Amino acid sequence: MKKISDILIIDDDELLTDSLSDFLIAKGFRVKAAHNGKEGIDIFERQQSTLVLLDQELPDMRGIEVCRRILDINPNTKILFITAYATIEYAVDAMQAGAFNYLSKPFELDELLITIDMAVKNVHMEGKLRVQDYERKKEKEEKRLVGSSEVMKRIREQIALASGSDANVLITGETGVGKNVVAEAIHDLQDRRETFLAINCSAIPENLIEAEYFGYEKGAFTGADARREGIFELADGGTLLLDEIGEIPIHLQSKLLTVLEDKSIRRIGSGRIIPVNVRIIATTNQDMEKAIQDRRFRQDLYYRLAVFNMRIPPLREHPKDIPEIADYFVKKFLRRPISVPDSHIEQMKKYPWPGNVRELRNVLERASLLLRGDEIRPADLLLQDDSGARLGKIDQEGLNTENISTLEEVEMRHILSAFDLCAGNKSLTARTLGISLSTLKRKLKEMHIR
Ligand SMILES: Nc1ncnc2c1ncn2[C@@H]1O[C@H](COP(=O)(O)OP(=O)(O)OP(=O)(O)O)[C@@H](O)[C@H]1O
Ligand SMILES: [Mg+2]
Repeated sequence: MKKISDILIIDDDELLTDSLSDFLIAKGFRVKAAHNGKEGIDIFERQQSTLVLLDQELPDMRGIEVCRRILDINPNTKILFITAYATIEYAVDAMQAGAFNYLSKPFELDELLITIDMAVKNVHMEGKLRVQDYERKKEKEEKRLVGSSEVMKRIREQIALASGSDANVLITGETGVGKNVVAEAIHDLQDRRETFLAINCSAIPENLIEAEYFGYEKGAFTGADARREGIFELADGGTLLLDEIGEIPIHLQSKLLTVLEDKSIRRIGSGRIIPVNVRIIATTNQDMEKAIQDRRFRQDLYYRLAVFNMRIPPLREHPKDIPEIADYFVKKFLRRPISVPDSHIEQMKKYPWPGNVRELRNVLERASLLLRGDEIRPADLLLQDDSGARLGKIDQEGLNTENISTLEEVEMRHILSAFDLCAGNKSLTARTLGISLSTLKRKLKEMHIR
């Protein structure tokens, strides 16, 4: 969660600012105080705070005016009015000016803390809304890293090391090895309250990346009808996951490099330099050395990102973990303790797993759907080798290939059991199977099912 670590108090009552400062500092906040509007705005210009406690009437300006000026500098600031004479009209004015909330004097300190907590949650929500899209698209991933091989032990050690430092981290590895799980693990160990925002660099159209990263001012380009903060600004003080960094076009790489070097950004259409302090965790399944050689990726940016370089090995380099991971997923999908028979495990250990743990997971999910009775059969596993042939047919030793169904049979059974499990709901079945509704309808028709 984004930390509200910096609070600015603007109030001409020195007794109040002093006692509030002492109280909030004791609660772990960094507190600055100003005793008139101009001083408050000056301090805010120099160093922004996430939360401002603002008096309704100041010697030189009205609180509402100060509120507007601060929000002009950073529209995401949470402004909490402290009012001596709370009238409904004033409250309405304050909220209309963009204040977050108000407290009327005298107030209990507990009340203040609760309101600050609300502001923290609010800041967090705003960040969340922005990444919701991203998260919605991302399949619901597991957060746990399973496996106790040496390889997995080393990964866990590296996660612990990385989480203990502020250095940028680059996580490389083939698709499905668990790079995102590792990135989240680093953040979780580090400090769960900090902001953790993620953006998938390959999912954003090229012409929107810059706006998404750095934000823009109203009118900066056609369609920019309101100011918007970029993801770097939103993640200030926290961690930003740049997923699939290898996909960023080269001209944006130099902009990204400048941001990392200067630790500041400029919104599109604005001259104002906004300091941002963000820890970057980047992931990629590309061969970065080759990308650099081919001049698809800037070497200087690479060095900035890969201060802490983590390579997650493919599953075929740690087949020892397969039984443990397989057990974990089978239990998860079936919710009953069925293990994968040893003979299949041996077969799985020989398989190259081009899609790594994700593929293993998918294979077991399918097997769980196909399961009849209490035993997973080799045919249910449907492993494919590179040439597309089923592994069962290649590794014939001790296997009765007559028992192996054709793909068409398996597909039919798979569709039927999914249809069963979805209680005959066609749209749900189609979505679960990852096919379109019309494809599902056609296949059901072929099986004479309506
Ligand atoms: N060691 C592991 N234990 C349990 N689950 C794992 C492990 N590694 C990966 N997974 C699971 O495998 C799937 C893929 O993981 P993840 O999305 O982190 O891969 P990735 O390396 O980011 O892949 P891509 O390059 O395609 O983005 C997820 O469902 C994840 O939970
Ligand atoms: Mg990933």
